[in-house]
Amino acid sequence: MSSTEMTVSPVAGALGADVHGVNLSEPMGDNLFKAVNDALLEHQVLFFHDQEITPDQQIGFAKRFGDIHYHPYISGMPDHPEIVEIIKTESESKNFGGSWHSDQMFNRCPAKLTMLYAKEVPEAGGDTLFASMYAAHDALSDGMRKMLGELHTFNVGDRFKNQGGKTRREVMTGTSSMRLKDPDPDQDTEAVHPTLRTHPETGRKALYIGGHTHRFDELTDEESEGLLDYLRKYSVRPEFTCRFRWKRNSLALWDNRCTQHFAVNDYAGKRRVMHRITIAGDATF
Ligand code: SIN
Repeated sequence: MSSTEMTVSPVAGALGADVHGVNLSEPMGDNLFKAVNDALLEHQVLFFHDQEITPDQQIGFAKRFGDIHYHPYISGMPDHPEIVEIIKTESESKNFGGSWHSDQMFNRCPAKLTMLYAKEVPEAGGDTLFASMYAAHDALSDGMRKMLGELHTFNVGDRFKNQGGKTRREVMTGTSSMRLKDPDPDQDTEAVHPTLRTHPETGRKALYIGGHTHRFDELTDEESEGLLDYLRKYSVRPEFTCRFRWKRNSLALWDNRCTQHFAVNDYAGKRRVMHRITIAGDATF
């Protein structure tokens, strides 16, 4: 399959594009890979459809973009540790990723990309929302942009730690089919980042906040809360977003350096299983 057979169709104004004419079960030549990567840099999240791929083929595709990033709180699949299986069964109520966030912001080198492959999805519901943090950055007033340009966020992985002193694992054990674990001692769970981040490949600025953001380093708790509350709502204004309706064998690939996402939890009594791989990123600037 060559890059000339690939078509890319935007799905919304700010971000997101459907990709057709690419078979992810086949080895990808350098030209086609470059076309996919260029499309990702332009559209920030890509949607592939009707892809029959094995775990090894998904891992092979992911590794074209870089090294695998391993989740500190969730173990990978026993035979494929690179893949985190996101499972929500018919009897579970909590979902994984059900708040706006950018993956692994609590790491000094947050995951650059995430690839999610749909194994089992409800007939309706369980969509994923995406928001462009380029668009959020570009629409800031000059004054707000100047102020945020001088601030750094403090981000925490175990966002449940303030809930009765319980860890993420303690809160979720017994209520989730995910393979929960405690972080290895060498894995980051807290990190400081610039609030306006520069994308290392495009050079564009993005607003870099998400559900893992607890406060601004340079502000008091009270000031942080007010500003964060505003930015959380502002950054996901409808015009910055797109929505993906999954089908079995769809694959979404997104760039965490310039997007947030949100897994919608509206499929009670239904089962949803996804295979997720994250690609390691670099230190922020
Ligand atoms: C995630 O936050 O990575 C999961 C998104 C989803 O399951 O839709």
